[in-house]
Amino acid sequence: MAAASSIRVGLAGLGYWGPNLARNFDELAQLAWLVDTSPERREEAQARYPDAHVTGDVEDMLADDSVDAVVIATPVPTHYELAKRALDAGKHVLVEKPPATRAAEMDELVALAEARDLVLMPGHLLLYHPAVLKLKELIDSGELGEVLCVYGNRQNLGIVRTNENALWSLGVHDLSVILYLLDEEPEHAVAHGRDFLTEGVEDVVFSYLRFPSGKIAHMHLSWLDPHKMRRITVVGREKMVVFDDMELERKVTIYEKAPWKRAETYGEWQTRTGDIYSPKIDTAEPLRLECQHFLRLVAGDGERAKVAQDGAMVVRALERLTESLRAA
Ligand SMILES: NC(=O)c1ccc[n+]([C@@H]2O[C@H](COP(=O)([O-])OP(=O)(O)OC[C@H]3O[C@@H](n4cnc5c(N)ncnc54)[C@H](O)[C@@H]3O)[C@@H](O)[C@H]2O)c1
Repeated sequence: MAAASSIRVGLAGLGYWGPNLARNFDELAQLAWLVDTSPERREEAQARYPDAHVTGDVEDMLADDSVDAVVIATPVPTHYELAKRALDAGKHVLVEKPPATRAAEMDELVALAEARDLVLMPGHLLLYHPAVLKLKELIDSGELGEVLCVYGNRQNLGIVRTNENALWSLGVHDLSVILYLLDEEPEHAVAHGRDFLTEGVEDVVFSYLRFPSGKIAHMHLSWLDPHKMRRITVVGREKMVVFDDMELERKVTIYEKAPWKRAETYGEWQTRTGDIYSPKIDTAEPLRLECQHFLRLVAGDGERAKVAQDGAMVVRALERLTESLRAA
């Protein structure tokens, strides 16, 4: 495969998120096709990208043999079907999260991509956030000591969704990060929540995960909350670290705080508080990094199967949490 800049990309879905993907792929590769079922969206897209083919039917794009890769930014219920059609047509696929709403469907997509040696990459944006990469570096280098627990807070008043609950809409972000940081599949996953505003759509979800290593994780997901929080906390035996995406500058704060036992106190737990500091975090646009990673994989650079398998782990966990939510 040639350089990333010559890869021909087709994009389906030009609503709120799609134009961000269009801008990046136009700058990084060849934006060859734009697809949306809405005539207004198509008109806007054609005006913005006069050299691209614009259509309302994905089949037009899939029939073009010169298209190497397809990006899907349509509503969640359409992801599986569109990704499957694109893989069947021999295209590499970047699909917004989650690529499927059932683990069995995701497994089918992963198998299809593997059999054809195609990229199937879910758009887990936070995995490309330089602050999340910093958390991973701190964990993997051993700087935090043994990691004990991780928890995510993703709360705000609104946006109130009526077609997907807080777990699928908000939790997919935290879950992708938690699984990436811990690099383990949860052995136990429970969730509780309530549908206060729209029947059957949980607005507030509390979830708990336990991993084979003994680590635990929690997510508080809500659009019924006075606080706007976008925060992930990692508690290690030696240090603790917080990624707060609401902070403009100090995105990551490391706390040299830990419990410890002094010999002269006969085994009683004491706490130690040292420096609190914020490392410099790269300001690169996470979506840019995500698009670049996809193009590198398409160009044959990097481990193709891993992104698909990691995405499947997220969908499996979401499915188990959903079963628990419904059973409660
Ligand atoms: N990574 C992120 O941070 C992030 C942020 C926002 C949205 N998203 C994801 O992006 C996706 C789209 O979300 P959105 O907020 O842009 O939705 P949206 O409703 O604003 O846009 C979806 C667009 O897809 C079009 N569409 C629907 N079915 C189609 C089909 N079969 N073929 C072609 N076009 C079709 C619609 O006409 C619409 O223009 C979702 O999966 C969402 O989860 C991701």
